Amino acid sequence: MAEADPLVIFTPSGKRGRVAPGTKVLDAARRLGVDLDSVCGRRGICSKCQVAPSIGAHPKHGITVTADALSPANEVEHRYDRVRGLKPGRRLGCQAEIRGDVVIDVPPESQVHRQVVRKRAEAHEIVLDPAVKLHYVEVAEPDLDAPSGDLERLLEALRAEMGLDALGMDFALLPGLQKVLRRGGWKVTAAVHTDGVPEVIALWPGYHEGVYGIAVDIGSTTIAGHLTDLVSGAVVASSGLMNPQIRYGEDVMSRVSHTMMNPGGAAELTDSLRVGLTALVADLVEEAGIERSAILDTVFVMNPVMHHLFLGLDPVELGQAPFALASGAAQRLHARELGLDIAPGTRAYVLPLIAGHVGADAAAVALSEQPHGSDDLVLVVDVGTNAEILLGDRSGVLACSSPTGPAFEGAQISAGQRAAPGAIERVKIDPVTGEPRFRVIGSELWSDDPGFAEAIAGTGLTGICGSGIIEVVAEMRMAGIVDAKGLIGTAEETGTPRCVAEGRTQSYVLWQGDDTTPRITVTNNDIRAIQMAKAALYAGARLLMDKRGVDAPDRVVLAGAFGAHISPRHAMVLGMIPDVPLDKVTSAGNAAGTGARIALLNKAARTEIERVVREIDKVETAVEPRFQEHFVAATALPNSADPFARLRAVVPLPEPSFGKAGDGARRRRRRP
Ligand code: FES
Repeated sequence: MAEADPLVIFTPSGKRGRVAPGTKVLDAARRLGVDLDSVCGRRGICSKCQVAPSIGAHPKHGITVTADALSPANEVEHRYDRVRGLKPGRRLGCQAEIRGDVVIDVPPESQVHRQVVRKRAEAHEIVLDPAVKLHYVEVAEPDLDAPSGDLERLLEALRAEMGLDALGMDFALLPGLQKVLRRGGWKVTAAVHTDGVPEVIALWPGYHEGVYGIAVDIGSTTIAGHLTDLVSGAVVASSGLMNPQIRYGEDVMSRVSHTMMNPGGAAELTDSLRVGLTALVADLVEEAGIERSAILDTVFVMNPVMHHLFLGLDPVELGQAPFALASGAAQRLHARELGLDIAPGTRAYVLPLIAGHVGADAAAVALSEQPHGSDDLVLVVDVGTNAEILLGDRSGVLACSSPTGPAFEGAQISAGQRAAPGAIERVKIDPVTGEPRFRVIGSELWSDDPGFAEAIAGTGLTGICGSGIIEVVAEMRMAGIVDAKGLIGTAEETGTPRCVAEGRTQSYVLWQGDDTTPRITVTNNDIRAIQMAKAALYAGARLLMDKRGVDAPDRVVLAGAFGAHISPRHAMVLGMIPDVPLDKVTSAGNAAGTGARIALLNKAARTEIERVVREIDKVETAVEPRFQEHFVAATALPNSADPFARLRAVVPLPEPSFGKAGDGARRRRRRP
């Protein structure tokens, strides 16, 4: 370009260059690699190309932008402004011509690859580049002199618009194609899916806006879905339901057993899951008030057994070593092939499984938490009935799963229950008196606050949830009421009358109960169940640390709903997680759901996670000889082999010894 040509500077990208006078802003943007959207092919219909010229002096750029730096608004812009309204100062980039030096701001809504802000400060932003995008085109009418099919002319128009060569159309749309073209007066909006061979997957007459996707996390217990706007990246509706398969058993293995013992059992489970998902889609559509047919993409994450059942594959091999998957590869399908009646062209993407026991949900956690991109060594733990564990950094990632069982979810605990109003979720025990105080889900008050009884009148006091049981056991350990072996002392040994004999063991009375509330105790069996669960979790992590040749990672990320509620300090007192500084333990919330949403909003993330999963080093805990050894050491609170020196430096852990051995038992001394 000549020196005298106008200089154009785009913000916020800072991209700049000289263009010939009369160049359209959209063309200048494309030439300079600026991210400026266009859906309608410069017809002044979509307004996705909106920009804002910045008139005045720009000393930073060394130019002054005059009012005539862009051509005056033309008839197309006036018409758009009349019909749909253009914000003051905005221009359509496909219409405005550059005539002088100019600084042009591209607002976030006009950027093709805009970033979707994630809430957590440390979370990476998602670059919006979904697999499905809308394109408005004008199609040549049929011509006797140059005969060609309507489809061929539609694809030709789209090819010219998008620069796509190998474009096709989903056959399911062909029967309706001719009507749509004629109804739209040869002007149509096409949804084009580009993850794989590009195809038109939906078609509307005229100009159409609104395209959505659903990210679904299929858990063994609950299914959660997020309906997401594929243009803005915003979640417009979220819904969850119990996995209907729960009537065949609480855990995945009981569902595998059901398929082994009942002919047709796998198909039955597949059907029940698909019925649940259909209900979920209906809920989301209703909540968002959109047409079901606007949902054109879906992404699914789940554990391997759910994966096989969802895809209609028999999970029987996953019930026994060597836990062979039918396939762990990512799947690109039509939603209709999965029994989901959404729109004829709606697609489904299922994230890859990591291994026979480490699912697509763990892959989604990796996509969200990016251990493979971490400079420091990070341990990511997704705690559920099966803990999925990732350890890694830029140099490589290891993964395993460990069968923690349902104790962390409140099952197998005498007063245990799911996290719901009425459940104890926070506990503190006075180390001197052994007296507890606690908080119940649904109330902000502690149990010794005035008004507590009234505050819980609505919810009741019904039991202890997973985070509550972890806190109470850890608090008992810190107060010297339970010893490192996990034994509860007698009232005499602990100095608190809350320790009472029940059969041959002791229990700790957390709440005496009254007319309206039950007595809530922590029994030695409860502690045993927590010890087993946390030992499985720690042993898995320890195994990965062995493989990596370290005693602890640099930081720990707790994923999953449970991870979001768990207190790092209490988890570490129990020795659930390795000994890192407490401020290096963070919660990632529902990282599997976030990963699913990332794969929905950014198609490159799909190829990224497929590559990462191929490169992950899978460790099978069931066949690792050292797992048992680590498990036994990890049954101690916090651990009988690993010193937990960092923890002990900040949290006093008394060392009483209770139990039948008697010799070592000594009475705890209380301060007067
Ligand atoms: S590209 Fe659609 S209005 Fe400019």
